[in-house]
Amino acid sequence: MTVIRPYYSTESASALHYDLVAFADPAVQLDVDLYAHMAKAGGSILELGAGTGRVAIPLAERGFEVTGLDIAQGMLVRAEAKRATLPAEVAVRLHFVRGDMRSLALGRQFDAIIASYFTFAHVQPSAAWKQAFAGMARHLAPGGVIALHLPDAEPMKRPAPSPDIPVFRKPIEGGVLTLFVAAQTFNEKVGRFDLLLDYVTSTDKGVETARSRERYTLFVGDPEPYAAKAGLRPAGPPEALGATGFIHKFVKC
Ligand SMILES: C[S@@+](CC[C@H](N)C(=O)[O-])C[C@H]1O[C@@H](n2cnc3c(N)ncnc32)[C@H](O)[C@@H]1O
Repeated sequence: MTVIRPYYSTESASALHYDLVAFADPAVQLDVDLYAHMAKAGGSILELGAGTGRVAIPLAERGFEVTGLDIAQGMLVRAEAKRATLPAEVAVRLHFVRGDMRSLALGRQFDAIIASYFTFAHVQPSAAWKQAFAGMARHLAPGGVIALHLPDAEPMKRPAPSPDIPVFRKPIEGGVLTLFVAAQTFNEKVGRFDLLLDYVTSTDKGVETARSRERYTLFVGDPEPYAAKAGLRPAGPPEALGATGFIHKFVKC
């Protein structure tokens, strides 16, 4: 029986190859520029689900004081490794912490709170969104803004790619990484989208060296009722980012 690993878990290929796949994704091209306008120059930013620091690191390089929170040790290890290579004046502005966005308790407030690349959609709209919004409201400084990049449900309704046709292929050290969608489902009633992704590494000559099947889950839902219950209101209409998602911004009522 094929083992199915959770996405981003310590032993997962999704954590190992995260940067290669994420930096190539058109869904998030130029998103750092957008988040860099969420706080005043030198202000504080809390990134929920900071992963390997794809967004947190360039924000710190631009002068912001950044806290990157993530639940997955396998992602944070990579973020910390990159932080260790940064100039001291940048590294001092950047902190990674292990934590769950559903139970935020950092004991301070931030000028901006962001969740890039569909991160907030890993959490189910339900009690979990209620808790996450309440936590964000508590951690948002007066005059601050929350920005959540959430996926559009429409592309999730499209037919699944053929399991034999690669959806991603790039050279890696000593060979090639290829991704296949083994299965794709969208339960529209509950707003749940699941992908079973096969990460396959092979030599330049096409000999398979490793294979990992991993489950990637996103939820879709309307964030506004949850925000309202937490005392937050939309800062404007959602703005498209990439072809498959929208930035939803909230401020205190
Ligand atoms: C798509 S990655 C985004 C990483 C980074 N923000 C970026 O844009 O490249 C999603 C991240 O959210 C994290 N995550 C998922 N659920 C979480 C939770 N409940 N609390 C904190 N982090 C979570 C995952 O571990 C993963 O690192």
